[in-house]
Amino acid sequence: MSAPYPHTPVLLNESVDLLVTSPAGVYVDATCGMGGHAEMICERISPEGRLFCFDMDPEALAIARTRLARFTNVTFMEKNYDKLKVGLFTESHTRIDGILYDLGVSSLEIDRAERGFSFMQDGPLDMRMGRSKTTAADIVNTYSREDLTRIFRDFGEERFSGRIAGRIVESRPFSRTAELADCIRGIIHGPFINKTLARIFQALRIEVNNELESLKKSLQTAIQILNPGGRLVVIAYHSLEDRIVKNIFQDAVSDCICPPQNPVCTCGHKAAAKRITRKPLLPSEAEIRENPRSRSAKCRAIEKL
Ligand SMILES: C[S@@+](CC[C@H](N)C(=O)[O-])C[C@H]1O[C@@H](n2cnc3c(N)ncnc32)[C@H](O)[C@@H]1O
Repeated sequence: MSAPYPHTPVLLNESVDLLVTSPAGVYVDATCGMGGHAEMICERISPEGRLFCFDMDPEALAIARTRLARFTNVTFMEKNYDKLKVGLFTESHTRIDGILYDLGVSSLEIDRAERGFSFMQDGPLDMRMGRSKTTAADIVNTYSREDLTRIFRDFGEERFSGRIAGRIVESRPFSRTAELADCIRGIIHGPFINKTLARIFQALRIEVNNELESLKKSLQTAIQILNPGGRLVVIAYHSLEDRIVKNIFQDAVSDCICPPQNPVCTCGHKAAAKRITRKPLLPSEAEIRENPRSRSAKCRAIEKL
């Protein structure tokens, strides 16, 4: 890597090895961030190849633009990856040879107090990756107790969701991450408080950025727009993301998606892809030692038939 960047790419060689099958191919990095994976993709493709880099974070894309300035075959798109097809269509590219998703947040986002993603540092309750309107403060200050309970349960898998939502509703408004974290510390005690805080902050981040719906929509489009032999490679960091990837991949490689209790197949579904990774690829112990943030990563890949 040519210069130090605040984000260390995860499963870098492994994911790019899976992705790039033809140097003259057309590739998409759906989550370019600061361009760590994108840089390696550019190094693997020839001048005839192309790379389209999506990210909704303008700050990250600005860094990636500078980092990849030496490559002339890269196009940057400040867009949500749920607009993959529209973005590529406007560039007159509708068939793609490989698409990479390195999900979640970058270190640039999580480590900057002013972005409001972390309970470890005080900052505005923001958590927007892009330029959308709704912030985490809007959610904690306006959602009903029931809706807060639902997002903490569904997106944080937090067992004290109801109690935490109740205390938030009694104590709001909040404008800072530290105020919200202190409110939760007021009712949840013990050695696992940081895990609870991580789950609540994850849930809010997912809601602010509509992460799971965007991911479902984008992965389905990605499978459609791949060329035969084209690869879809996804690195997920938590079980909610990974479950979506696993289920969409399972449907894509199956000839039938009827419920198991159906005696005969009525769906007419045909497999669109084959599995490239039987089991997810995980970071090595050495990678986890060097970059502890890689520890939860799981990389899965399929190939279009
Ligand atoms: C883990 S980082 C990617 C890091 C990158 N691979 C690198 O090596 O520098 C994930 C990136 O995905 C972006 N992102 C997350 N959800 C997105 C979405 N729905 N559309 C576009 N970008 C998204 C985030 O803004 C973040 O920059």
